[in-house]
Amino acid sequence: MVSLFESQWLGGTVQLKNRIVMPPMTRTRTSDGDVPNALIATYYGQRATAGLIVAEVADVAPSSKGYAKTPGLYTDAQIQGWRLVTDEVHRKGGTIFSQIWHVGRMAHPSLMPNGEAPWGVTEQPAENSDVFAHDAEGKLGYMRAGKPRRLETEEVSALVDTFAQAFANARLAGFDGVELHAANGYLLEQFMNSALNTRTDRYGGRSVEDRTRLLMEVVDAAVRELGPGRVGVRLSPFGYFNSMPEDPLAEETLLYVSKQLGRRGVAYIHLLYELMPTGNMETAEFEKHHIDHAVLAKVRAAFPGTIIWCGGFTSREQAEDALGTGLVDMIAFGRPYIGNPDLAERLRHGWPLAVADRSSYYTRRGEVGFTDFPVYSGDSAVQGAA
Ligand code: PHB
Repeated sequence: MVSLFESQWLGGTVQLKNRIVMPPMTRTRTSDGDVPNALIATYYGQRATAGLIVAEVADVAPSSKGYAKTPGLYTDAQIQGWRLVTDEVHRKGGTIFSQIWHVGRMAHPSLMPNGEAPWGVTEQPAENSDVFAHDAEGKLGYMRAGKPRRLETEEVSALVDTFAQAFANARLAGFDGVELHAANGYLLEQFMNSALNTRTDRYGGRSVEDRTRLLMEVVDAAVRELGPGRVGVRLSPFGYFNSMPEDPLAEETLLYVSKQLGRRGVAYIHLLYELMPTGNMETAEFEKHHIDHAVLAKVRAAFPGTIIWCGGFTSREQAEDALGTGLVDMIAFGRPYIGNPDLAERLRHGWPLAVADRSSYYTRRGEVGFTDFPVYSGDSAVQGAA
């Protein structure tokens, strides 16, 4: 049987102590200026027994803001803030990557520099999906994503340099690597989707090479900055969160991308197989999507690196069954990591899991429901902060 507790190499470069991943989760506890702080460092440090932590997604630039209070990775203060986080995780013996995104059309003028329109692959808005932004009175709440402005070809090329700077910043901030968020209907996926990307330039929708050009240029920039063993890519093939139209070429694109990432020696592909219908993060019901093993086997054949599977896992048994298929190498546990800082030990020993209260997922209530979950120490500690 394949164990979750065997070590795993990423790209022959980074050795992980087990096959458990804490995937990126927005928690909205940043300080002013979208800066990570000591509280956030404590939170990640508490979870350092995961084989790999991928930190909550960071904005590549001010134009990438779709959700208030998510951290950035483009100012000196943000880099210093992340330094607190990576130092604490390393002090506890953990490994931490930075997930980096541009939200593209999933934004709102109230969050954009000078109130400008969100950046789009086309002018097509995400009609049924919300972002976390300011209303006319300046109050924060969920509201429909704004109408995007179609980026000019040169602006798309310039974005590659913006990402390259963020990768350099990730290194300065002490991250062990970076994960590109090319999933869930954000910019990199907006370009890949053949139904949404109707452009006719070199980043346009006509061929798979053109649709994936932006992703590949960004991957190449990451590989140049950090080396391929320190680069991962998150994909959500067949997902429709954030009003992504159904893509008749989704499988073709997935297999092409897998092959190209393999050629570049990229460390891992992080597959998200849990679908969220339209709406927003607060109200969304997650729909379990049973991964099509035939498709996964094709990804496996195309990509020689590590494959991480994320999608509603809550037990060791489920995770080891998934590893037992031989189709994936590591398992990500999202929500269980919120209430169980020592999730790896709990899974190893069969200790019960605490269930975190969803109302504290995205709040400004600091440590409440964030860093106040105890490690397991016998039955009396099990209730956690549920
Ligand atoms: C997502 O990956 O869908 C996502 C990430 C961060 C957020 C919201 C959504 O704040």
